[in-house]
Amino acid sequence: MILTRCIPLIWLFLLTVCAGRTLYPLPGKGGKALSFPFRLHVLITSHTEAPMERSLKKLLLHTCNFIVFFQRAIEEGADFIETDVLSSKDGVLICFHDYTLDETTNVASHKEFADRNRTYEVQGSNKTGFFTFDFTLKELKKLRTKQRFIFRDQQYNGKYPIITFEEFITIARDAPRVVGIYPEIKNPVLMNQHVKWPGGERFEDKVVKTLKKHGYGGSYMSKKWLKKPLFIQSFAPSSLVYISNLTDSPKVLLIDEVTVRTEDTNQTYAEITSDVYFNYIKQYVVGIGPWKNTVVQVSNNYTQAPTDLVKRAHAHNLQVHPYTYRNENKYLHLNFSQDPYKEYEYWINEIGVDGLFTDFTGSLHNYQEWTSPLSATSSKTALGSNCFIGPSLSKELLVSFSIQDEALSFIPTISLPSNAASFAFKRRFIPSDKLSYWYKFDSNMWSAVYKRTYGKDYKFKAGYDSEVRLDGLVSG
Ligand SMILES: *[C@@H]1O[C@H](CO)[C@@H](O)[C@H](O)[C@H]1NC(C)=O
Ligand SMILES: *[C@@H]1O[C@H](CO)[C@@H](O)[C@H](O)[C@H]1NC(C)=O
Ligand SMILES: *[C@@H]1O[C@H](CO)[C@@H](O)[C@H](O)[C@H]1NC(C)=O
Ligand SMILES: *[C@@H]1O[C@H](CO)[C@@H](O)[C@H](O)[C@H]1NC(C)=O
Ligand SMILES: *[C@@H]1O[C@H](CO)[C@@H](O)[C@H](O)[C@H]1NC(C)=O
Ligand SMILES: *[C@@H]1O[C@H](CO)[C@@H](O)[C@H](O)[C@H]1NC(C)=O
Repeated sequence: MILTRCIPLIWLFLLTVCAGRTLYPLPGKGGKALSFPFRLHVLITSHTEAPMERSLKKLLLHTCNFIVFFQRAIEEGADFIETDVLSSKDGVLICFHDYTLDETTNVASHKEFADRNRTYEVQGSNKTGFFTFDFTLKELKKLRTKQRFIFRDQQYNGKYPIITFEEFITIARDAPRVVGIYPEIKNPVLMNQHVKWPGGERFEDKVVKTLKKHGYGGSYMSKKWLKKPLFIQSFAPSSLVYISNLTDSPKVLLIDEVTVRTEDTNQTYAEITSDVYFNYIKQYVVGIGPWKNTVVQVSNNYTQAPTDLVKRAHAHNLQVHPYTYRNENKYLHLNFSQDPYKEYEYWINEIGVDGLFTDFTGSLHNYQEWTSPLSATSSKTALGSNCFIGPSLSKELLVSFSIQDEALSFIPTISLPSNAASFAFKRRFIPSDKLSYWYKFDSNMWSAVYKRTYGKDYKFKAGYDSEVRLDGLVSG
């Protein structure tokens, strides 16, 4: 069960409308963003390169706490990065999946910590190991992380420290475009039992306070949320209910295998996926994050007929973001012919999930590129319309036209039923120089981006938008 939840790179992606969602352009293929000292932000990359191209939106989530994986996920096109949050002995929030350090750090080789190998009762059974809450942050920082799975790349082992939750937030904020975060309030019962915060504060208070300190807040899809997208997830329903009084940020209830019991309310997840329970919990959460085998059961490595979980969750207006999708053969059920794209196809188009977590950001991104209704290479003179419908994120329908020739393109767009109109205008001067301008009538927001291509491998982009951001990006 642990393995089903522990994942070096997790993704969630959502189907949504691209109207007005230009704040999430994906990085250029193979492009590597370099950081300048000032804040970087790509504005309308995907508009300039592929007008109204995205019917799929992805959120990337990551549970494995290796700093390089967060960064790679962002480069590979993640919209959200995900982490599990635990605490050190001195109450500092850290990004770490397990409550013990044994499997994914080199703690065993630190002789000075030998006496920290301890036994505690966790959910009714005794567990032995090096518990995060027996180490101060300073001590934790002496350790180095390592890959849990022997069949994955081991080259980063021993090189990177555990990062704090605030450092994780900084990675998202420093990304060259808007990247959301999806933190999990992990093992809250255990954390509250073993860590004491000043003033009687709880683990959950500390998580919410940290998020607020960094400007996170706002209900799902609100203007504030879109600037700093956030989902807060937990397997413990009472933690989500508790924080509902502290923050209006969207929350997602994680669901394990149906016979497993919650750590806080000691209910089985079968109970928690009943209609009666959905009716209750929907006051507090925008969705559920079920283990994928809870949605589609597996027998002899073949997927069985899906349960009605997704249908029922949708009937309660709850999104469904299952975990975890992985490329390795051992995780790909035989129905999918060892092809992860077939698996995505099935879950997105047949099961109709609203998002999903994957360890393989790049594969999901490529899948999206391949199945995007408009490819990035539009013909020289194109006139057409495309509709994008986001199932449960938005009821908006987007209709756009692209009128273009060699040097100019003009792309008016209207979204229905709100009638919000916008247009993009692009001018190519010489083949290597391009200027793009985008304007939204309803909010008077605009942005302009200049792009210059140097040879095949390097691009320079600089942009300005009406929300007063100065931006630049070099890709190579
Ligand atoms: C920690 O203690 C357990 C039980 O005594 C033992 O099995 C395990 O090997 C110890 N771990 C290390 C790294 O010494
Ligand atoms: C855990 O270990 C302690 C000390 O050995 C023992 O008293 C307790 O009964 C154990 N608990 C369980 C659930 O096995
Ligand atoms: C949230 O606040 C309301 C109103 O003050 C209170 O009745 C309720 O018990 C609080 N809920 C939690 C989970 O603290
Ligand atoms: C949880 O509920 C089960 C079934 O009623 C019970 O056997 C178990 O002791 C409970 N666990 C705790 C920690 O209360
Ligand atoms: C089938 O699943 C089992 C575990 O459930 C696994 O050990 C085995 O390798 C799988 N076989 C194939 C062919 O995927
Ligand atoms: C997967 O393959 C098995 C064996 O052929 C079949 O029984 C099952 O219905 C398939 N699952 C789906 C979802 O098509």
